[in-house]
Parts: sequence; structure tokens; C-alpha cells
Amino acid sequence: MVLDLRTPSVDGAAIKTPIVESETTVCLQLAHFLDDRQTAVTFFIMKYYACVVACWALLAVVGRATPAKIEGLEQTQEIGDVNDREPRLFFQFFTITPDSCTTNINTQGICYSATDCKNLGGTASGSCAVGFGVCCTFSRSCESSTNVSQTLFQNPGYPAATTTVLDACRLKVYPVNSNICQIRLDLTDFSFPQPDIEGECVTDFLQVIGGVTNTPLICGENFGQHLYVDVSPDFGSVTINVVASAPGAKWNISVTQIECNSENRAPAGCLQYFTNTKGTIKSFNYDATTFPNSTPPTATTQLASQVYGVCIKPQSGFCSVSYKKTSGLVNDYTFSTTGDASIYPPGDPLPGKAGSADCTTDYLMILGGTITDANYVVISADRYCGFNFPSKVETSVQPFVLYVVTDAQETTYADSQLIDGPNVGFSVDYRMQAC
Ligand SMILES: *[C@@H]1O[C@H](CO)[C@@H](O)[C@H](O)[C@H]1NC(C)=O
Ligand SMILES: *[C@@H]1O[C@H](CO)[C@@H](O)[C@H](O)[C@H]1NC(C)=O
Repeated sequence: MVLDLRTPSVDGAAIKTPIVESETTVCLQLAHFLDDRQTAVTFFIMKYYACVVACWALLAVVGRATPAKIEGLEQTQEIGDVNDREPRLFFQFFTITPDSCTTNINTQGICYSATDCKNLGGTASGSCAVGFGVCCTFSRSCESSTNVSQTLFQNPGYPAATTTVLDACRLKVYPVNSNICQIRLDLTDFSFPQPDIEGECVTDFLQVIGGVTNTPLICGENFGQHLYVDVSPDFGSVTINVVASAPGAKWNISVTQIECNSENRAPAGCLQYFTNTKGTIKSFNYDATTFPNSTPPTATTQLASQVYGVCIKPQSGFCSVSYKKTSGLVNDYTFSTTGDASIYPPGDPLPGKAGSADCTTDYLMILGGTITDANYVVISADRYCGFNFPSKVETSVQPFVLYVVTDAQETTYADSQLIDGPNVGFSVDYRMQAC
């Protein structure tokens, strides 16, 4: 990590090679910055590298006097003989670490030097690392790639919807380092056409290719939903692909790389991960239906062929979790996974089903689930389906996972053979309960 003063070219602006690979010296940046602006400092010093040396010496002195770490700046030291206790006046400098930062418009960005931000294809907004870095955001659209920790993947023309057919619109995600175990997709905005009459996302969908586990195809209305994709730390790339057979799709997806030792990492195999002590879990495309709904559904908005786990982060002091339907009403058609609710006239209570004998095609599974009935009798059931969900299902089986299962046989019209019909899916509120 020794700065070789012979390498700078005659034209200071041409210095591009970072002294330490993938790190940027603040001094070079500073000199560059001052040089660009023809400030009084450079006017007097005249020589670009003289400015670098001056800055370097200053930082080294400051570094010795105040060894405390400045947030966002990391002290880098020469790797030398451990017995060498001489102060390394000229062999200390600071580098900018790519931590998260807040942009001028209050969104999340990554701290980079201005040059790195530009070279990586980002947009600078606001400063970070005590003014030495810029808060950099990355937006990508079709047929692009990224190798930074956070990227927005948007449809062409976003926030307007697409105006063309997209046979493929791919974002290739390359690992930012060799310690990435997951990729999280936050569907900040997501409005796609509805699935076909069997609930399958066939012509328009979001797909993730290259993860360790399969990610279901997603279509319809999924604003606010999220997905985790497990990757092996040495993964080459993961492709996020959108296929849209007609204009009118819209998406803004935040793609975040999660390090293996990050506390934000979900347990392996969880498609969704909730970290608060309470929250709402909805099936994909649940928001296609407007609630409260006083009439039976007429189209299947529940997506077919979905098998996944929704995990809830364990918290100390909490030993169990309870689930209830988000709407408290028994007659509002806000929950349906199987059957045809239209046989129940509006206003009638809608029956739910529980147990593995009754729920075999589309259901929620809660291992160790118990319901307390009106006579305070405790009933155990792992599976829940039909047109309703019990007023409360509790479990103390850890890890806390809500499994979602739908088969490939949804139908828009009641089908006597399949005994299925238009279903809306589910929305349940979970709450962790103290020990
Ligand atoms: C896209 O999503 C990001 C992340 O949530 C958000 O900060 C940004 O404002 C969104 N873009 C638009 C144009 O709404
Ligand atoms: C990341 O992407 C940028 C822009 O495409 C490229 O210049 C750079 O070499 C890539 N870095 C790595 C580590 O792959």
C-alpha cells in the first residue's frame, strides 16, 4: 500500500488507478477535486502530486494524534513487520468504505468517492464520509448489470408504465464481494397484469434465475412485497428477469446484496422474512382485490404453483407467535384458498377448514398450530384453508415459519371436479407473544 509517486502522469487528472485495489485514496480525490476547481490551494502548490503529499502528511499526523475511527472512513495501515514500532508517518492514509448513506432526497445510497460512483454507473446525491464521499445511487433497467450492494431495477420509462412488449428485461446481479449469501428484492412498486384463469403467471411475470432455491413466478399487484433469494457465496451472477407480453407493466425493485454474516440475513430457504414482533403477511397478488369485499370473488387472484416459507425472526423474551386474519369479519370474502365462496350468499358466515385431511391443495401451514374454540377446547391443526381463518392460531414451534402452498389447479369458475373456484389468497396478522 505504498503510494508510488513516480506513477502519476504529467496530467494529474489522468490518475485513475487506485493505490489499493478497490479502495480510493482520499488524497488523490482531494487533489483531483481541488485541481478540477482551480482553487487557490492548487494555484499556490501548482503540482498535483505535491498536493497529494501535503494532504497525505496532514492525514498521517492527524491520524497519529487522533487514532479514533472517523465514521465512514477507515484507517488503512501498511502491512509491515509487527516489531517495527516506528511511526509510519507516510504510510497511513484513509479510504472510503462503501457503507450505506442517505441521499439529498432521503433515500438510501452507498458511499463512494465521486470518481468510483461515476465509474460504477451511479448517480451522486449528497455527501458522506465526512464530506470525502458522495452518496451514490444506482438505477438500472432492461439488459443491464450491477455489481454494487444496492440497485434499483425499474421498467423503462419508470414511473410511467411500459409502452412496449418485453420478451426479456434482465438485470444481471454480480456479487459485490465474495461474502454474499442472499439477495433481497423489495417490490417498492410492482403492477403487472393478472395471472391466467388458472392462477398461473404465464405471459407476464418476474422471475429470478440462478439462486440456490427456486423462486416462484410473481405477477399481478405486489406493491410492498419482498423476496429473498439464497445464493452461494461464489455465485457467478443472478438474473432478475421480467417478461411482459403487453405494455402496461410497472416496477421499481430495490435489489440488495446481503453478506453471509449480516444480521439482515434470513435463514436459508425463507422466501420472505419478517423481523418485527408483529406485522402483516399477504399472499402475492392479494392487493389485486379491493377490500372490504362484500361480494364473492369472480376471478382467481391467488397465484398457482407457489410453495414457500415466510419466516419470522426469533426475538429474546418471545416464545410463541399468533396469527389472525387481517380483517376480523367472518363474512367478508377476504380469505379464500380453496373452494368456491359464491355458494354462500353475501352476509353469511364463511367457513374455514383446518387439518391435513381437509386442506390438501392450497393452504397455509403452521407447524404446531393450535386453535381455541368457543368452548375453550384446544384443537391442533397444521393446515388452514377454505374461506376463512380461525380467530387465532398459536404456535410455539420454532423457527417461526408460515408455509404457503398452492397447487397448479386454480380456476376462475367453480369446477366440481377440482372443488375449487375463484380465490383471493390470504392476509394474516402475526404477533409474537412473550414467554
Ligand atoms: C424507487 O424505489 C426506491 C426505493 O424504495 C425509492 O427510494 C424511489 O423513490 C423509487 N423511485 C420512484 C421514482 O418512485
Ligand atoms: C463493476 O462494474 C463496473 C461497471 O460496469 C466495472 O467497471 C467494474 O470493473 C466492475 N467491478 C467488478 C469488481 O466487477
